[in-house]
Amino acid sequence: MKVSSPLAMIRNRLQRERIYCTAEYWDAKATEHAGDAASMWPNNNLNALYYEEIAETYASKLPDFSGLEVLEVGCGTGRNTKFLADRGAKVTGVDFSEKAIARARERFHGEPPVFRVQSIFEIEDDGVFDLAVSWGTLTIACRERAQLEDVMRRLRRALKPGGRVLLLEPIHKGPLHRVLKMREREFLAVMRGAGFRIDDVHHMHFWPARLALAFVPWPESVTRPVYFGGQWVMKHLLRQRRGGDYQAILATNPA
Ligand SMILES: C[S@@+](CC[C@H](N)C(=O)[O-])C[C@H]1O[C@@H](n2cnc3c(N)ncnc32)[C@H](O)[C@@H]1O
Repeated sequence: MKVSSPLAMIRNRLQRERIYCTAEYWDAKATEHAGDAASMWPNNNLNALYYEEIAETYASKLPDFSGLEVLEVGCGTGRNTKFLADRGAKVTGVDFSEKAIARARERFHGEPPVFRVQSIFEIEDDGVFDLAVSWGTLTIACRERAQLEDVMRRLRRALKPGGRVLLLEPIHKGPLHRVLKMREREFLAVMRGAGFRIDDVHHMHFWPARLALAFVPWPESVTRPVYFGGQWVMKHLLRQRRGGDYQAILATNPA
């Protein structure tokens, strides 16, 4: 499968509901794209800014990772795995793309985290983790509500009592949806149905700026002002409650 040419990107985007949820697509991304574009967008300048925004979100929601057993769902090429491991977390990264996991391993010298080439629909851990995290995986892996319900039950079971989940996911029912078509309200209802208590929701990655920037490798001189303009609008005018391409959801396994 070809993924990196502009034509291939448009073609793949048009059939995203069918191909984004396949390992073959992510294997091809990990093979053809350099840097974080393998797991994210073709614009690596935007990816770097998103990385900072993700780091700020982690730090604001969960200030101390040291010693925590963390399950990373859809770890891709290990961007967040590295962030968490560098802060003392004991990370288990799960992803069904063998090629992405191979790239994730390359980030580590010395003892690497545990990586498992596995579908998230096969996670069977029971009461092992303090924290589960995901960036942009559940809404790509799940085609329908029943699958999301299944994954949420698996995640909750994988957590210790009092364990938490931090999901950064593009949740949309309209044209911005990836594979899963679902409103935020329904997504949260599925989480509650699986037994999670929702602690906090905020929007991130302002979507109009994302659409303008993501698909073209714009230089920093274009990427930064458009990105920060969008962030200003989302923070000051929309109070981080609307306008995000992604929603950050922090929840707890209460029992
Ligand atoms: C948008 S990428 C994000 C990767 C990583 N979380 C990051 O932030 O760089 C989505 C990832 O989800 C993985 N994925 C999609 N469906 C999956 C499934 N059913 N089981 C395991 N991994 C899956 C893909 O292989 C890909 O690495």
